Amino acid sequence: MSIRPQQPAPATPAPGRLPITELAEMKARRQPIVMITAYDAPGGRLADQAGVELILVGDSAAMTVLGHDSTTPATMEEMLILTRAVTRGARRPLVIADMPFGSFQVSDEDAVRNAIRFVKEAGADAVKLEGAGLMLSRVRAIVGAGIPVMGHIGLTPQSATMLGGFKAQGRSAERALELLADARALEASGCFAVVLEAVPAAVAARITAELSIPTIGIGAGVECDGQVLVWHDVLGLYEGGTARFVKRYADIGDRIRRALEEYAEDVRERRFPEDQHTYAMPPGELALFEEASDQREYADDRH
Ligand code: KIV
Repeated sequence: MSIRPQQPAPATPAPGRLPITELAEMKARRQPIVMITAYDAPGGRLADQAGVELILVGDSAAMTVLGHDSTTPATMEEMLILTRAVTRGARRPLVIADMPFGSFQVSDEDAVRNAIRFVKEAGADAVKLEGAGLMLSRVRAIVGAGIPVMGHIGLTPQSATMLGGFKAQGRSAERALELLADARALEASGCFAVVLEAVPAAVAARITAELSIPTIGIGAGVECDGQVLVWHDVLGLYEGGTARFVKRYADIGDRIRRALEEYAEDVRERRFPEDQHTYAMPPGELALFEEASDQREYADDRH
């Protein structure tokens, strides 16, 4: 039986779930926070068993599991299905749903409505949204509705075109200061944590030191309070190009391919299925079946 309630409320976390307040305590203890993306129930279960604190159902799903070449096509309905699957698999980690492009940019009302859907329909504990500036008002509105929000600045893939492509951010003193100001503003708006993506390590370290909420880095150096990587990058399941900040810990894609080749070979050589994979029939029933089918065949032939 799952201890994650079907319809959790933001104010009533399920027993066994990591309290969100623990993240600030981990920052204070300088204990690194581990976050990984996941997109289905087995992923949620395995990440939980591995002891991670945070699972992000990232809109990277558009690329890693849905086959698009950017994150922007991810829809609310797709993200809800994936988030619901992850929350069925994960018990202790906090599950954070990534608000897809178009689900929060238009208005505070839209943002709150969609954040509520992630909590009510998919069992998410929190949402993440990209950007600062105009998006600070979205953060305040969602937090005001009682839903924890994680910020995300630096390289924000949903606005990669505006940023001039997928490249590191904050490499000039002026842009670094803007990032620091954005991070402070996200904290002041009520975020419980902020993702720093593709930011020089020294800038991320300074932001981390200045904020009282945890920073979660991806391509932002070791001084962040935590780190996040994308499931498919960690496990070698993504065939597209990977960024400089990715570390691959396994080549599961290769192992899957080899297993499928072995299966195909077994089928073609009639080595699979073996006796242990098939069902027998009591001999008497088999004899009756064969006799009855022979009689039916004879009757069919006569018509
Ligand atoms: O969508 C995603 O997976 C993300 C992480 C890279 C932080 O936003």
